[in-house]
Amino acid sequence: MVTRRKLVIGTGAAAIAGAAGYPMLTGAGTAYRDAVRQSWAAKSPSQTGEFDYLVHYATLAANSHNTQPWIFSEVGKTVVIRPDMGRATPAADPDHHHLYASLGCAAENLSLAAMAAGSRTSANFNPDGDGAVEIDRIAGRAEQEALFGAILERQCTRSEYDGRTVSASDIAQLEAAAKVDGCTLIAIPDRDRIEQLLALAITANTIQVEDAKFTEELKQWLRFNGGQAAETRDGLYSACAGNPSLPPFLGRIMFDLLFSAGSENDKLAKQLRSSAGLAVFVTERDDKAHWVQSGRSYQRFALRATTLGIRHAFVNQFVDVPTVRAEFSKVLGIGNQRADLVVRYGYAPAMPRSLRRPIGEVIV
Ligand SMILES: Cc1cc2nc3c(=O)[nH]c(=O)nc-3n(C[C@H](O)[C@H](O)[C@H](O)COP(=O)(O)O)c2cc1C
Repeated sequence: MVTRRKLVIGTGAAAIAGAAGYPMLTGAGTAYRDAVRQSWAAKSPSQTGEFDYLVHYATLAANSHNTQPWIFSEVGKTVVIRPDMGRATPAADPDHHHLYASLGCAAENLSLAAMAAGSRTSANFNPDGDGAVEIDRIAGRAEQEALFGAILERQCTRSEYDGRTVSASDIAQLEAAAKVDGCTLIAIPDRDRIEQLLALAITANTIQVEDAKFTEELKQWLRFNGGQAAETRDGLYSACAGNPSLPPFLGRIMFDLLFSAGSENDKLAKQLRSSAGLAVFVTERDDKAHWVQSGRSYQRFALRATTLGIRHAFVNQFVDVPTVRAEFSKVLGIGNQRADLVVRYGYAPAMPRSLRRPIGEVIV
């Protein structure tokens, strides 16, 4: 439904854009379309060499703010994924939890791609220095897991969903797919329960949106139109979240004018109420090795959801603000375990794709 507020925002942006001499701002443009094709291309080891093939699929993983905070290297049969601290987001993620979870997402994609190419893998966290995920490859038989086939289709779908419920058998498949050591998935497929939890998400969202450092950092990672997204091939492209495409200078002005706790909380409430359920990824311990495991578990969940035609998007507001996370953990009854990541799931059409940098930029 087009609300009055949406209409005002939409026409306001169009009017300013028109005055600034930008004819039609919603078209994503050739540069963006080319970048989507390059980012999400199917590749094979024979085409690119095995290491480049593995890195390509690894980089298609979900990652916080789409900063792509990873560096890949190869030591014999081991692939090492190190954090790129230059791409950390200290305001949104002061303890680097999401950064390490992002490495876990990449490690899971890489393991699935290795398996499809005929290697069994074992992934371990090496805590030395900033830490790294090390993935050992052992020759085996090529196994095309259905999850691998979903890597090119998975996306975080940040729209309102259509309200349909997900069947118990599909939820059981999601839970089975998400199993990794040290991490448990708690599914909340109950609308009344989500309604009760909504207040917690709103509290955290308000704290984040009213935090000037959080907002400034977020703005730096926003890409306001397809051309800007294609230039950097990272960050959060506005169209992926259903926002209009604008010239960057105008996008920043509109963001300053319109990004408020009120508007963001309304959006969050609609998104949660339209979803079929919540999935909470909980780890036994609160350390980097387990944060990586939460990312692996999420990635497997997301890929299985993709094969089942189920959409998902993060609602980490429940876990990003420590005081709210403590309250959320109490409600879940998880004691000292850490609630790491939260996603909502349900049904909706696909949204425009996020982009990835060429692999040459993430290999050393
Ligand atoms: C650890 C982690 C935390 C994330 N947190 C959020 C979040 O709080 N809100 C959100 O909308 N997306 C969140 N995302 C999703 C990323 O923004 C998304 O993966 C990235 O923009 C790339 O888009 P894609 O997953 O559709 O390819 C998170 C992803 C990861 C791995």
